[in-house]
Amino acid sequence: MRIPLLIASAVFSAFIMTSAFAQASKDNTTLTTKRYLPEYTKSGDLILPKGYAEWVFVGAPVTPNSLNGGKAPFPEFHNVYIEPLSYAIFKKTGKFPEGTIFFKELQLVTKGQHPDGSSTEPSGRGFFPGKLNGADVTVKDSKRYADTGGWGYYNFNHHEPKAATAKVLPKEQCAYCHIASAKFDDVWTQFYPLLDKQALPQGAAGK
Ligand code: HEC
Repeated sequence: MRIPLLIASAVFSAFIMTSAFAQASKDNTTLTTKRYLPEYTKSGDLILPKGYAEWVFVGAPVTPNSLNGGKAPFPEFHNVYIEPLSYAIFKKTGKFPEGTIFFKELQLVTKGQHPDGSSTEPSGRGFFPGKLNGADVTVKDSKRYADTGGWGYYNFNHHEPKAATAKVLPKEQCAYCHIASAKFDDVWTQFYPLLDKQALPQGAAGK
């Protein structure tokens, strides 16, 4: 008598999961039908992009303060997102279209009990995501940002809350490092397998 019960419960969970997926894909469709393009204030500052937490997540390098002499230049987890419809175009063409936005949200690690700042949790010892800590943003626009390699660089605070608007940053603060060492079109696709596998071969990025 136990088996039919098990089957019934499996069928029931499959039903629950299917409706959850149906719900999720319905939500995604509404989220991604319109491309989100950069918005600027009258004076030309970038407005904090909207909806980024639901964009396509590409990777999360982690550089905690505890491994960087107590003061990492870019502290903690860097959760990197790309605007979904720009990603869809990239997937087809192998190039980041004009208006592409990358959103890098910084997230501190939890205060660990070990001297290197790590903690032990049920899944093992490591670094675990804690409080949000501001954001860095890049926007592709070959004309507007010609002086910084075709991308505009913005910081929306290295603490919370994030700034509502940000001013474009000079080459010596951000772009120089991306231009020197990022793998594809000044983006660090070497750390994002999802993007790396779709990027055009080196040198074919159209710049
Ligand atoms: C010394 C090198 C260096 C400098 C300077 C630098 N970055 Fe980056 N940036 C990186 C690396 C490495 C990554 C890859 C992901 C990571 O480690 O955060 C990255 C990733 C990013 C990303 C995610 C998209 C991508 O290109 O991979 C954004 C957005 C970003 N940086 C913005 C900025 C902004 C804004 C500044 C200036 C305030 C800046 N960066 C300065 C090295 C640098």
